[in-house]
Amino acid sequence: MFITIEGTDGSGKSTQAHLLSERLRQDGHDVVQTREPGGTTGAELIRSLVTQGDVDRWSAETEILLFTAARRDHLERVIDPALARGQTVICDRFVDSTRIYQGCKHPDLRQLVDSLHELMIQREPDLTILVDVDPAAGLHRALTRESQETRFETLGEAAQTTMRSGFLALASEFPNRFITINGTRNINAVCDDVYSSVSHALAMRHISCGHSKPNVKR
Ligand code: ADP
Ligand code: TYD
Repeated sequence: MFITIEGTDGSGKSTQAHLLSERLRQDGHDVVQTREPGGTTGAELIRSLVTQGDVDRWSAETEILLFTAARRDHLERVIDPALARGQTVICDRFVDSTRIYQGCKHPDLRQLVDSLHELMIQREPDLTILVDVDPAAGLHRALTRESQETRFETLGEAAQTTMRSGFLALASEFPNRFITINGTRNINAVCDDVYSSVSHALAMRHISCGHSKPNVKR
């Protein structure tokens, strides 16, 4: 199963991706935890190009190409091989981030993101957890981290608010794969909700694949 975790900057995605991976491993699942942009040597190089430097370093169109190039390398080397081996992949951000961060900048860009995705990537997640937080709280969390990767955070609270609305609209557009979790609560409360949603989805998928009971430790 290919599971992605999405949300605005500082919403708690990386924290939840890590906790979810640990809990699923304790249940006996074979989990690959990864992230975008990044996840391979080449894609991590592209990551430093897109997350650091001036806000206007790249146009939205160039960003779409760079994020998709990084995704293609990640897909070829990590995601597709892991799924082919039957592993569960948990990925911190994927194409929905491009749909929102780049695709919302101009009315024509969402179509460009989708067209390039169809051409070069094709894979959609089986399940997407949207960690939804108040944009001001998320931005505060993100900016109190010590990091050079602040290119998108410098867009400010108004941009984070637009992106939050974009993610919520995307959750309505793809109701079959999105689950929205309130991320403003404490880390463990959020983790409990994320874990129960994902384990339910994993169990349902196992049954729909024709197995009588999930192959996990109880
Ligand atoms: P993201 O990957 O969405 O940018 P992180 O998981 O890196 O977010 O979290 C950003 C910061 O907020 C980190 O310092 C993290 O410890 C903290 N954090 C994460 N989840 C919560 C939460 N539910 N409540 C308070 N702080 C949190
Ligand atoms: P990430 O490290 O997940 O950011 P954060 O921890 O602040 O949530 O991702 C780095 C930045 O890359 C983030 O600000 C969002 C941006 N991004 C895009 O603009 N488009 C994309 O397709 C992806 C995957 C990320």
